[in-house]
Formats: sequence, C-alpha cells, structure tokens
Amino acid sequence: MPLRQSQLAAALIEHIEIGVIILDSALRIQHWNPFISRCSGKNLDLARQQLLTSAFPEAETPRFEQMVARAREHGEHVYTLWRDNPYLIQLPYDAVGNPTPLMLQSTLFLPFRDQDGQRLFGLLVYDATDVVRSKEELNAAVDALNEKQVEQDQLLKKLEKINTQLLQSEKLAAIGQLAAGVAHEINNPIGYVFSNLKTLAGYVHDLFRIIDSVDTAASLEELRHLKRQLEYDYIRSDADALIGESEDGIDRVKKIISSLKDFSHVDDEEFRLSDLHRGLDTTLNVVNNEIKYKAEIVKEYGDLPQVECIPSQINQVLMNLLVNASHSIEEFGRITLRSGYDNDWVWLEVEDTGSGIPPHTLKRIFEPFFTTKPVGQGTGLGLALSYSIMQKHHGSIEVSSELGQGTRFRLWLPISQPPAVETESGS
Ligand SMILES: Nc1ncnc2c1ncn2[C@@H]1O[C@H](COP(=O)(O)OP(=O)(O)OP(=O)(O)O)[C@@H](O)[C@H]1O
Ligand SMILES: [Mg+2]
Repeated sequence: MPLRQSQLAAALIEHIEIGVIILDSALRIQHWNPFISRCSGKNLDLARQQLLTSAFPEAETPRFEQMVARAREHGEHVYTLWRDNPYLIQLPYDAVGNPTPLMLQSTLFLPFRDQDGQRLFGLLVYDATDVVRSKEELNAAVDALNEKQVEQDQLLKKLEKINTQLLQSEKLAAIGQLAAGVAHEINNPIGYVFSNLKTLAGYVHDLFRIIDSVDTAASLEELRHLKRQLEYDYIRSDADALIGESEDGIDRVKKIISSLKDFSHVDDEEFRLSDLHRGLDTTLNVVNNEIKYKAEIVKEYGDLPQVECIPSQINQVLMNLLVNASHSIEEFGRITLRSGYDNDWVWLEVEDTGSGIPPHTLKRIFEPFFTTKPVGQGTGLGLALSYSIMQKHHGSIEVSSELGQGTRFRLWLPISQPPAVETESGS
C-alpha cells in the first residue's frame, strides 16, 4: 500500500468507533485502536505481546477457540452476532469513558497477511447494543401490535355479538310495541264478531220458537202472528248481514295473524329469494294500526325481480322506516312507497310528508341511540340497526330530506348476494 493510503487507513482505524485488535499468528496482541483502550480501560503498551486471553481472560472460551480454528484452517472471516454471546471481551466503558451496562457485541475475526507475508489476525468488535435495543423495541412494538390485533379481533367479535343481540332485542321491542297495536286491531273485529254472535243467538232462539210452534199452534194464523211478532223478515235480512260482517271480521284477524307470522320469521335468518313487495305489504299490515290515523298510503310499485335477502330483516328495516315516517307526520299526511330496479340492483323508497330532518340532525340519524323523540318513546336504534342490516346485505340506505316538506329513504339491495369470502384459517 502506498504510504499515503496506509496512513489514511491507520488514521481511520484510530478514529473509528469500532474496536480493532491486531494479533499475531500466536494470538499475541500487536496493536489495538484507542476505542479498545477507552472502552476496556487497559493500557496498550502493557498489553502488547500478551496473549489476547491473558489481557482478556474472559475470551478464553470454546467459542473463541472455534473461531480461531476456522480462521486459521480455512482462512475464513468468522462473524459472531451478539446473540451467540453477550460479549467476547469485556469493555466496561463507553466511547467517552463512562461506565456502561454490559455491551452487547458482534465480532469479526479475520486472518490477513502483512507486507512480509506473515499471518496476522484482526479482531473487530462492534457495539450491537443499539441494534439490539431497537430490535427489542421493534419486537416489543410488534408484540404490542399483535396483542392489539387480538384485542381488536375480540372486540369485533363482541361487537358482532352485541349487534346481533341488539337486533334481536330491537326486534323483540318492536314486536312488543306492535303487539299492543295488533291487539287493538284484532280487538275491533273480535268485538263485533262477538256481539254479532250474541244477536244471532237471540235470532236463533226466536227462530226455534217459530219452528216449535208449528207443532203447537192452533191455527196457521197464530203461526203467522208469531212470525210477525218476532220480526221474522228483519231477522232474515239482518242475519245475512251479521254473518257477512262476522266473516269479514274473522278474515281480517286471519290476515293480521298470517302477516305477523310472515313478518317475524324469528328462526329463519337465511338468505333466500324473496318478493319485496309482499314483504312491504306484510309489514304494512302489521304497522297499519300505527299508521292509519296518520297517513294515507300511496303505492307506486314498479316491477321487481325476486331478491336474495333475509326477508325478516328487510321487513324490520321497512317497518322502522314506516313507523318513523308516521311519527314525523304531525296531523295527517301521505306516505308513498315506490320500488324499481337498475341493472343488478333494486330499490325501495319510503317517502313521507312529515316534518323533515334539519341538516345538523341528518348527519346523526344513523348513530346508535340517536333520537329526537321524548325519553321512553324512541330508543334511537331503529336506523342504526337498519343501516347494519343493509350492510349485511351488501346494500345501502340513502336519505334526502327537506325541512317542513318531508323525508325520503331509499334502500338499495343487490339482486343477488356476492359469493361469500372465505375467512382466514377458518377463524
Ligand atoms: N322520516 C323521518 N322524518 C323525520 N325525522 C326522522 C325520520 N326518520 C328518522 N328521523 C329522525 O332520526 C332519528 C333516529 O331515528 P331512529 O329510527 O334511529 O330512532 P327513533 O325512531 O328515534 O327510535 P326507535 O326507532 O329506536 O324507536 C329520529 O329520532 C328522528 O329524529
Ligand atoms: Mg325509529
């Protein structure tokens, strides 16, 4: 090496923050750089020509012997990472001479020859503490992240569970609320069917009297008199009317009950092809009692194909929209139901002529527990659950509202559901 270059190299070694020790082939110390002096607290002049293992007895390990053997026999560079051994030689001070906690070392042991061809060894000692620390920090961060991930997964699972519970309890609450209305709806026809029956019982009694007197009457005239007296003609025409009315009443009760059955389908939570108009009509039947005093219903149904959905859940969304619409109407208004489709999507619309929703409220209506209704009247879950039901169906829910004019909700549903995505590792 030309003089200038070797001077540069020597200067570099003197200044570098890596320990450099040069040993002869018998592992006697020839030189080390100031980094070693500072960090070991040892004097180079006293250490020269000493065996490395005399100056640093801690280096006398099978591990070091192996390193030497490999470097000697194969002329190889031998690395150790801090992981193999916390340190090869003890360096109790840092680069500016302050005591340090144990330094974590990586080493490189390399054979080389000097200008005269004599074998020498270089031992390079790096401080790996920072690397280790940052690695440890990184590991800790990764661990923490993993933990957070697990926590989040658990939270998600909990949320899903709560969501289903909410769905269930909202459904129960809705059914409870409806039960009162339905009871009223059923009470009415049952009431007049019952009173008709009583009247009919009276008529039957009178008719029996007339028929019985066929045997006992002295004359046809007496029979005719009884007939007139018991208003047979009136009984005849009224009985027909009463029976017709009672049949209507029973029909109405049957219809409400079958609608309720259709509506709830509590055990049936599977996606299946379904007629949305039928669902809408069923739901209307069920909430009729809530609505009929508040609004006339206008149906502007388009053509709809069968749609893959969970009908009971879509009914629940529709019910909530219908009840909200009727609540928004102060005196008496109109609720318009529309439907249609666009390529692979169908939509259902519920529009009311109610109070409308002010812009600052509009932003919040899908929040769980957000309600403007008096305490005890609204739970504020209706739209939040409707939203999550629509999400589950890969659909969406849109709203537009004008204050004082009314509100329109539109549900969008894909005609068929996208194929289920496999969840990872069956979790
Ligand atoms: N058609 C509508 N017209 C006017 N305001 C509406 C309409 N629909 C919803 N809102 C507003 O959105 C709020 C939230 O509705 P949501 O259905 O989530 O809860 P709620 O009806 O108050 O209570 P719940 O449905 O749980 O009984 C309502 O309190 C109301 O202020
Ligand atoms: Mg509601």
